[in-house]
Amino acid sequence: MNRREFGSVLAGGLVSSSFARHRWLPARGQPPRVNGDRLNAHLTAISRFGANPQGGVTRLAYSDADKLGRDFVLGLMREARLEPSIDLAGNIVARRSGSDASLRPLLFGSHIDSVPEGGNYDGNVGSLAAIEVARTLAEQGITTRHPIQVVVWQNEEGGLYGSRAVSGQLTGNELTNVSRSGKTIADGIVFLGGDPTRIAEARRRKGEIAGYLELHIEQGGTLEREKLDIGIVEGIVGIKQWEVTVSGFANHAGTTPMDQRHDALLAAAKFVEAVNRIVRSVPGRQVGTVGRIQAYPGAPNVIPGQVVCTLELRDLDDAKIVTLYGRIETEARRIGEENGTSFAFKSLHENVSAPSDPRVRTLIAEASRELGLTTKVMPSGAGHDAQAMAQLGPMGMIFIPSIGGISHSPRELSRPADITNGANVLLATLLRMDEARFT
Ligand code: GLV
Ligand code: MN
Ligand code: MN
Repeated sequence: MNRREFGSVLAGGLVSSSFARHRWLPARGQPPRVNGDRLNAHLTAISRFGANPQGGVTRLAYSDADKLGRDFVLGLMREARLEPSIDLAGNIVARRSGSDASLRPLLFGSHIDSVPEGGNYDGNVGSLAAIEVARTLAEQGITTRHPIQVVVWQNEEGGLYGSRAVSGQLTGNELTNVSRSGKTIADGIVFLGGDPTRIAEARRRKGEIAGYLELHIEQGGTLEREKLDIGIVEGIVGIKQWEVTVSGFANHAGTTPMDQRHDALLAAAKFVEAVNRIVRSVPGRQVGTVGRIQAYPGAPNVIPGQVVCTLELRDLDDAKIVTLYGRIETEARRIGEENGTSFAFKSLHENVSAPSDPRVRTLIAEASRELGLTTKVMPSGAGHDAQAMAQLGPMGMIFIPSIGGISHSPRELSRPADITNGANVLLATLLRMDEARFT
């Protein structure tokens, strides 16, 4: 696509007439590039906060390691001449002024919390790359028209808590949910420096941001398999999670005959199988998982009287999640009737699916092409803070390859060169969004 064609793609809403005159375009010298060595060194440095014995990172939201990692990030932000602060939801928001006070801010960032026994790339790459981009702007004396805000969202892994507070999707009763750190969400927000009693004030309204960009590792194997540099995310799956409690009757494992048991774990085992069967019974890319299970009282010689497990369903189509859930609930009732147990479902949280903005996708493609990088438009099966931000303004996501398609594992890995490429695409796309005057 040449510049004229590109301008016509933008004509639907973006001002592009001055596009070719921007100071950093090749006609006036090379576009700015991030310092890839510095970015990769920062990525290595942050891995010590929550380093796990398996060689990865366990930095659960609201843990001491999370706090230490955030302090490290705050230091990097100051070195990048950003002005960081903690918002009322506990997110880190670091600001840099733009030259046009009438424009709303462009936001970019990611998260630094991890799953238990996770890796060093999920979230960290996007967070540290965003800071590196801001530092590059500062070092090269580039003033954007839009104000910019680098955001490190709190508790992404637990269910986009920080970003959903900002998008207005977090419900008050979720504040009592218990996170993997053992703290409630409310206590965790206090721990990070926010104020759950005033969390509504962290909310931003639709149109209050000019746009949102996030760089992330792919977490799947498509880019590596197809030898491609950059994924342009077309949309992010919806995710719904429930806590499922199976109630039976705890009794003596030696004296209770097999036909007189109300074994909650047996019912739960059938439930796990049913989830897999039902989710696979329709065509599509939907996925369903029982990822955590606990039997009570938990002794070899006691028939489990209660089981608490989780159910998670994901698809790009939120309606499909609702339909599958209905079928799973019906099947759970049937399983319970078989051995006199009962199932109760408590909704934990929901991330609604989000398409990315087609204009931002075009800008990512253009930026990648100019950097000589190959691209593919692809969906995201993982959840991201970007899907909450899509509620507020145009959103785009940039993926880089994950070696072996492994993520949420200590073996998660992305190559330094790919990380540098991703950061450069982030920078170049941000400048294009700025130039195009997203409002
Ligand atoms: C976040 O990483 C998720 O997809 O669960
Ligand atoms: Mn992530
Ligand atoms: Mn993750």
